[in-house]
Amino acid sequence: MAKQLKSIYICQSCGYQDIKWMGRCPDCGQWNTIIEEAPRPEKRNQGLSSMSSPQTIDTISLSPEMRLKTGISEFDRTLGGGIVPGSVVLIGGDPGIGKSTLILQVLEKIAARGHRAAYLSGEESPQQIKLRAERLSVHSDSLYVVTGTCIEDFFEKLDTLKPDLVAVDSIQTFYTNIIPSSPGSVGQVREVAARFMAFAKESGIPVFLIGHVTKDGAIAGPKVLEHLVDTVLYFEGDRGHVFRILRSVKNRYGSTNEIGVFEMKDAGLAEVGNPSRIFLEERPQDVPGSVVIPCLEGTRPVLVEIQALVGPSPLGMPRRTAVGVDHNRISLLVAVLGKTLSMQLGDKDIFVNVAGGLKVEEPAADAGIVSAMMSSFLEKPVDRNLVIFGEVGLAGEIRGVSQSGLRINEARKLGFSRCILSKSSIEGSRETGDMELTGVKSIHELYEILFK
Ligand code: TYD
Ligand code: MG
Repeated sequence: MAKQLKSIYICQSCGYQDIKWMGRCPDCGQWNTIIEEAPRPEKRNQGLSSMSSPQTIDTISLSPEMRLKTGISEFDRTLGGGIVPGSVVLIGGDPGIGKSTLILQVLEKIAARGHRAAYLSGEESPQQIKLRAERLSVHSDSLYVVTGTCIEDFFEKLDTLKPDLVAVDSIQTFYTNIIPSSPGSVGQVREVAARFMAFAKESGIPVFLIGHVTKDGAIAGPKVLEHLVDTVLYFEGDRGHVFRILRSVKNRYGSTNEIGVFEMKDAGLAEVGNPSRIFLEERPQDVPGSVVIPCLEGTRPVLVEIQALVGPSPLGMPRRTAVGVDHNRISLLVAVLGKTLSMQLGDKDIFVNVAGGLKVEEPAADAGIVSAMMSSFLEKPVDRNLVIFGEVGLAGEIRGVSQSGLRINEARKLGFSRCILSKSSIEGSRETGDMELTGVKSIHELYEILFK
């Protein structure tokens, strides 16, 4: 008789399944990630439990103001204008970045608007949550706290509680009885999330799932939940800095170009309505190596200060350190500077930093980075009322970038009076009032304007 299969083997990193154990996952190539799990029970209609009858798209009715606003505008904006009923939102982030703080503040706001909010925690005791709430001055008689780790117990409680919104902190600490493996494993996390998904879709109650990004850079080992949930937000930031950025990477009900900016204070997260001002607050004046660039975070223009330090290297192998910008991009720009301006930085230590802990990934920052490096190398500061943007090509040409009008306007709002940009961008942005625009075609022209 054929042997009855009792277990399946699942890669904890990518979710690959097999019927035998292997040392290396054939799918993602990781070693020692395949772990035995009980076979998943056949219950195909756990998802959307009942199928709706066919209807034409025109006949589906939609109430106009469906979204639930929290009143925290940075948060609402990131969600695309508020919380959609029945949606499941995953909030991911490194441990300690402030996810629990954020969700508690969001729940309080929801509760203050007369809704019942339920905070399910598998990490902290009610007393610990109360301590945090005291610190955040969160008080409410319709914010309910439930602690524990078994979701079957929770669903029982939710039946009687009848909340309008549920937050689960964190998904990795919960387990379901159906699967024997421990909480946090791929099987458990996926199953728990699927159960909350089904719950949200059936009841129309929105659910927030909080997930820790593990050291592999993905939630629950792999990004096993991203495809399942409706919206994925990442809460990012450098723990050494007070700024936190809530970024939407997937959104079934809105744009993924949105970010929300927060500042971590003693009494919780505060919205930063005008990030540019904060990022420029402590800018040194008239110091070589400091240049302000208008970059876009999604659809939002943000001014940041790029700092460069170029100096002789005591080492045989000069150092190139980039914080907040791509390391390879710096090498490329150094090579372009050497070739087109004969500015030899090969034997210099070069440090480039984005002040405030923001990450700048746009090529539009190139011209600013180049200017900061030149400024530090020549020990000549650039005009402090000036912003610079544009992509630098390998031949030393400066190319146009998108949304130059938005960038210029943001700079003008913050009191900058001059802007250097590519000649091609300048045509599209004539109506920019009192801002003095200078178009450049190459790094050479940029150098002439800045330092001659
Ligand atoms: P927390 O929300 O517990 O992070 P997560 O849930 O993402 O693991 O917040 C962690 C950090 O935030 C903690 O190290 C201290 C800091 N913090 C403040 O600075 N101010 C505050 O009011 C609170 C509650 C936390
Ligand atoms: Mg937490």
